[in-house]
Amino acid sequence: TLSPIDKAKFVAAKRAVDYVEDGMKVGLGTGSTAAWMVKCLGEMVRNDGLKITGVATSTRTAELARQVGVPIVTLDEAKWLDLTIDGADEYDHNLNLIKGGGAALLQEKIVATASDQMIVIADLSKQVEALGAFPLPIEVIPFGWQTTKALVEETLVNLDVLGRTASLRMNGDAPCRTDENNYILDLHLRRIGNPRQLSLVLNQIPGVVENGLFIDICDVVVIGNGDGSVEVRD
Ligand code: A5P
Repeated sequence: TLSPIDKAKFVAAKRAVDYVEDGMKVGLGTGSTAAWMVKCLGEMVRNDGLKITGVATSTRTAELARQVGVPIVTLDEAKWLDLTIDGADEYDHNLNLIKGGGAALLQEKIVATASDQMIVIADLSKQVEALGAFPLPIEVIPFGWQTTKALVEETLVNLDVLGRTASLRMNGDAPCRTDENNYILDLHLRRIGNPRQLSLVLNQIPGVVENGLFIDICDVVVIGNGDGSVEVRD
């Protein structure tokens, strides 16, 4: 039997795969919630003969897809996707998101943006009034990262946020590396007043590759609860 939190993630994933139809090209998200979705799709491919092509948002997800039998192609082979299903670290009432807790934000954003529709699967703990309690991940080039960090912190002074410090994400004793071999800075902002402006400003700083704010990208949030009930916001 599943814990309430795993049950919530599972039922959200289970409902979201209802959106998947034969012949679709599907973006596969990263994280513990998205992993349930990949397993559900694997079961549908193996047991029900569902025919889909998947594009993975991380090497972790590609590996899981292979294990459960979901065929994977590269994004360039797929060119355009019908649907992406992914988790999130936070979502607000406008369905704007913070993602990147699993360090996959760059590929996740590229894949979601290349999709006709993005569906987020989550439990209620991810819902917020204002984004920013979860530290905002940004992917930065390793070259000159301390200079980039200083510039990011300086830039935050002029923006509508409460906290202004950045920390280098570690993996044991070494900096955490993304699939693209970059670093992650976590921005401790506490509350983001204007997510759209922040996203634009961050991406103009040299050395910043991408940030974890997903603005106007998500179309539907499927929220699972520990009692097995599901709610859909769109
Ligand atoms: C990965 O980089 C993230 O964007 C994940 O989608 C996010 O961290 C959600 O993960 P969980 O489903 O494990 O909470």
